[in-house]
Amino acid sequence: MTDTQHTGPVRVGIIGLGFGGETALKCYKQLPNVEVVALAGLEEEKLKYLGETYNVPYLYRYYEELLARDDIDAVSIAVPNFLHAPVALAALERGLHVLCEKPLADTVANAELIVQAATRANRVLQVVFNHRERGDIQVLKRYIDEGKLGQVYYAKAHWMRRRGIPGAGSWFVSKKMAGGGPLIDLGVHVLDMALYLLGEPEVLTVSAMTYGHLGSSGTGFDLHATKSGGGNAFEVEDLGTAFIRLGNGATLLLESSWATHSNARDDFGVTLYGTEGGAEIKVENYSWEDTLRIYTDIAGVPSEIKPRLSRGEAHMAVIRRFINNITEGNWSLHIGTEGLRRSRIVDACYASAKQGREVVFGA
Ligand SMILES: NC(=O)c1ccc[n+]([C@@H]2O[C@H](COP(=O)([O-])OP(=O)(O)OC[C@H]3O[C@@H](n4cnc5c(N)ncnc54)[C@H](O)[C@@H]3O)[C@@H](O)[C@H]2O)c1
Repeated sequence: MTDTQHTGPVRVGIIGLGFGGETALKCYKQLPNVEVVALAGLEEEKLKYLGETYNVPYLYRYYEELLARDDIDAVSIAVPNFLHAPVALAALERGLHVLCEKPLADTVANAELIVQAATRANRVLQVVFNHRERGDIQVLKRYIDEGKLGQVYYAKAHWMRRRGIPGAGSWFVSKKMAGGGPLIDLGVHVLDMALYLLGEPEVLTVSAMTYGHLGSSGTGFDLHATKSGGGNAFEVEDLGTAFIRLGNGATLLLESSWATHSNARDDFGVTLYGTEGGAEIKVENYSWEDTLRIYTDIAGVPSEIKPRLSRGEAHMAVIRRFINNITEGNWSLHIGTEGLRRSRIVDACYASAKQGREVVFGA
């Protein structure tokens, strides 16, 4: 099949009404060449509210009903992780372009199936990695691309929470429904940020460990979380840590947790050490001002630069790119490769933790 271009407005359906789905809806509504035709989700009140507020004509409870329409070009998938694969596969089979929330799937096998289906269908498949679109990351990316850090040989990426397990009993804490804990949920975001900044280096080996001390003893839950699902036992980790050897001799230390006895609230960031300079992004509770420090020598003196930052576009940038990828054609260039790569690395982390040893990536 050859690439085709899309003409006219892109008609979109959104599946899932939680943070992921509502955020996507707000972004699509800001784009002139998009019509949000339909929404699907299990929460009747929220469905009605979003339909009325954002003027979406067709509202469904189940995703299958939305996918049965024959006037939709693309879907945003923002449902629990275990449903990413069934929804994405059904959508691609119907010839729809797919924007899938992170992680691409609950398991690496399902992530592979989705990418194969996108390739077969010749449709755009993109994963929502919104944090790389932050103002601080974008400034640092340009600085790195100008060669200002020299060769980056050591990187650290973290997302740590004090009490942030997303809702007692929600789908997030079920191994079957989520695929894992903070490593697959938050770790995949900061892994994306680090790999993006480092220019997608090859991964050689992964050595990881997971712990679930707090979650399994019934502490560390975010009691204000409004996530769907209920009654699930806590079956995943609450902390995951990994040491990743990269090509060119660089290494990446990854930490992600939903709950720790620490001074973290809901904090994430990336630190990079290069031959010519270093950089640190420290985000506390989703802050965006003054989050980036560049370390360099000025006139032979160790110096710190504080770039003036903007918030950045986050989800808006992701969704604008998705729509542009659809309208511009060349669909075969956008088949979820980065999402699959991140799923493979997360999977290698879980395998290493389970086996209690370093694993060779891709072996
Ligand atoms: N990129 C980000 O910043 C970000 C933030 C939060 C969540 N997410 C991702 O978005 C996805 C959803 O997370 P959330 O926090 O919005 O969860 P949530 O529990 O708040 O919402 C899940 C939604 O899926 C719907 N759903 C479940 N089964 C369905 C079915 N059979 N048919 C139709 N709808 C169905 C539910 O009704 C609910 O509206 C996850 O993959 C998560 O990782 C991404």
